[in-house]
Amino acid sequence: MLLLYLASLALLLPGSDDAHVVQERISFHLIQISSFANQSWAKHQGSGWLDEMQIHGWESELGTIIFLHTWSKGNFRNKEFAFLELLFREYFIGLTQQIQTHASQYHFEYPFEIQANAGCELHSPESPEGFFQAAFEGSDFLSFQNISWVPAPEGGSRAQKICDLLNRYEGIKEIVYNLTRNTCPRFLLGLLDAGKRELQRKVRPEAWLSSRPTVESGQLLLVCHVSGFYPKPIWVMWMRGEQEQVGTKQDDILPNADGTWYLRVLLEVATEEASGLSCRVRHSCLGGRDMILYWGHHTSVNLILLAVIVPVILLIIPVLGRKM
Ligand SMILES: *[C@@H]1O[C@H](CO)[C@@H](O)[C@H](O)[C@H]1NC(C)=O
Ligand SMILES: *[C@@H]1O[C@H](CO)[C@@H](O)[C@H](O)[C@H]1NC(C)=O
Ligand SMILES: *[C@@H]1O[C@H](CO)[C@@H](O)[C@H](O)[C@H]1NC(C)=O
Repeated sequence: MLLLYLASLALLLPGSDDAHVVQERISFHLIQISSFANQSWAKHQGSGWLDEMQIHGWESELGTIIFLHTWSKGNFRNKEFAFLELLFREYFIGLTQQIQTHASQYHFEYPFEIQANAGCELHSPESPEGFFQAAFEGSDFLSFQNISWVPAPEGGSRAQKICDLLNRYEGIKEIVYNLTRNTCPRFLLGLLDAGKRELQRKVRPEAWLSSRPTVESGQLLLVCHVSGFYPKPIWVMWMRGEQEQVGTKQDDILPNADGTWYLRVLLEVATEEASGLSCRVRHSCLGGRDMILYWGHHTSVNLILLAVIVPVILLIIPVLGRKM
């Protein structure tokens, strides 16, 4: 197990030893979103995620897993998926029945939403960690710790009562333990191997700069856009020479439709101080050579374009003139 883990991680993260761009842990998790509209109506959505990449969906009418990638099955056989599908179907049916039966007793007022996040994380080879967390109406409600259900402080006495109830079912606890501590890490290692071509792919970032005036006059918001990169770890900073600019603000890293990533990094400066600034991008695909974009240089790109376009137009005009 230990060797397999190390091998998988080494395969997954070739040469990414730069302190800024290391990813130390990886997880597989299932996300459940259940909406209860009233006493007789409930809907469950399910999905499977390798870190932040969705690789499974859930067809709730048929109660079957949707495999979004060729490698989404990892090294599990169809027999194992059939067993898991059966388990999930029974879970959703049982959950709906239990909640609808006990909603008034526990003061769950319709409509409400329940979310769960369950899976495992490999961050140190000796101890893959399993987790199961549930939320009620968007705030933490309970979780599975070691081998029992533990209420979240936000869940109050209601979460305490439900945990007391759940903790009486040894069989369910054993299943949850097995799924998160045993099945999940086994599945995750298989996934890392089956999906390694996609997971190890390297796509260089593209970057460009833009700016806009801010509400405060005389100030300029400089934006460094970095897009299309994979894997996700990246470091982007506004610089003046070798000096990192402390006012640099980073947005969340957002997904592109093709599975690569997009990031905006912002800096607000006085208009007259903008020249001499640059945006510096460090990513494992760049082979140790940072990408540097100098503010103001895009105007020279425009000049180059102009230098190309003008002669072309000059060539075209006489041709058109002859035709007319
Ligand atoms: C329950 O909610 C569903 C979905 O919003 C709605 O279509 C249905 O009419 C509701 N039923 C009752 C009995 O209120
Ligand atoms: C987890 O449960 C086992 C068995 O009941 C127990 O020996 C161990 O101390 C528990 N660990 C924690 C951190 O609660
Ligand atoms: C949990 O896993 C252990 C070992 O793999 C197995 O003996 C046990 O039957 C499993 N329990 C459940 C409830 O699946």
